[in-house]
Amino acid sequence: MYESHPFPAYTDKFRKAAEEMYLKMRLLGIPEAEYTGANILDCGCGTGEFTCWYASQGTQLTAIDLSRPSIEQARSYAAEYELSDRIDFRQMSVLEMDLPDSTYDLVYSYGVLHHTPDPVRGFDHMVRVCKPGGVVIVSVYSLYSRFLHRIRQRLINRIAGDDVEKRYRWGKRLFPLTARKLKLRAHDDSDAVLYDQFSIPHESLHTVGEVLGWFDKHGLDYTGAFGPLRLKDYLYAACLPEYEQIETTFEGSVLARVASRCLKSLSRLFGFRPDKAHRFERPSALSRFVVQIGWFFLGLRFSCFSIAGRKPSESG
Ligand SMILES: C[S@@+](CC[C@H](N)C(=O)[O-])C[C@H]1O[C@@H](n2cnc3c(N)ncnc32)[C@H](O)[C@@H]1O
Repeated sequence: MYESHPFPAYTDKFRKAAEEMYLKMRLLGIPEAEYTGANILDCGCGTGEFTCWYASQGTQLTAIDLSRPSIEQARSYAAEYELSDRIDFRQMSVLEMDLPDSTYDLVYSYGVLHHTPDPVRGFDHMVRVCKPGGVVIVSVYSLYSRFLHRIRQRLINRIAGDDVEKRYRWGKRLFPLTARKLKLRAHDDSDAVLYDQFSIPHESLHTVGEVLGWFDKHGLDYTGAFGPLRLKDYLYAACLPEYEQIETTFEGSVLARVASRCLKSLSRLFGFRPDKAHRFERPSALSRFVVQIGWFFLGLRFSCFSIAGRKPSESG
């Protein structure tokens, strides 16, 4: 599907990345000094929005994707922003990564593993190519946030069968409000986001506990998550200057705007300040449950969650 409908197709290419990445990295527990100048692997770069954001931070990247047309678009973004010499694009599957062990300081995959038949295999490869002491970030669809969307998809698929174009048309016809919101939030004048959400041939949904298990299997230390996985981390997020940038994504949703205001007031009330040290501790089962129930109500806005972990250094 991504061969005929490369994703994303933002009208303002850098806007989404610029809006969320500074806050995201902070809440993933990865300080700026760690990724500026790092050697990074992007697993499933799509049309390269996040690849270009990382490259614009002075990093060097290898970016892989299965879809040739997506890579071509990513190449032309990179050229447009004069970042070509920082990125080595390769057509390759995240499940069959032909890359050497222990090579990259940071390995990430945003919104990719859940489209593969074996997300754990992809994750295992990511850990393998990460250097000891390096960081792995993975971002996958949440079972909770996409619960209702899964019902929409089932209905569309029942009517439209396997035909990608029919699914897209029925998705727009049956759920015009969702389609409008998706396009608004993706800053997308084309309909790439609608193909991505209504026509996708395969996606798996995951819980936070399950993905933490992937990290545990390799002994990676939890460094943080986005969205945060504890109430305390939400309150901390709301006091950060980077939070202001992401607030623009709440445009158009009254519920999300009210939630955001409440969060900021509570953050002030409990004395959270950006200059005070904050530790992102591994969330308890109760925290995870409460947070994921919140995502259920916020729905597609929290489609994906990201978790970061550090590979043990060789000295242990
Ligand atoms: C939703 S897009 C995400 C693109 C990008 N990471 C982003 O967040 O903007 C999913 C991408 O995963 C790619 N993909 C799917 N299966 C893959 C695989 N096995 N190996 C590498 N890329 C894959 C698709 O071609 C598509 O470009």
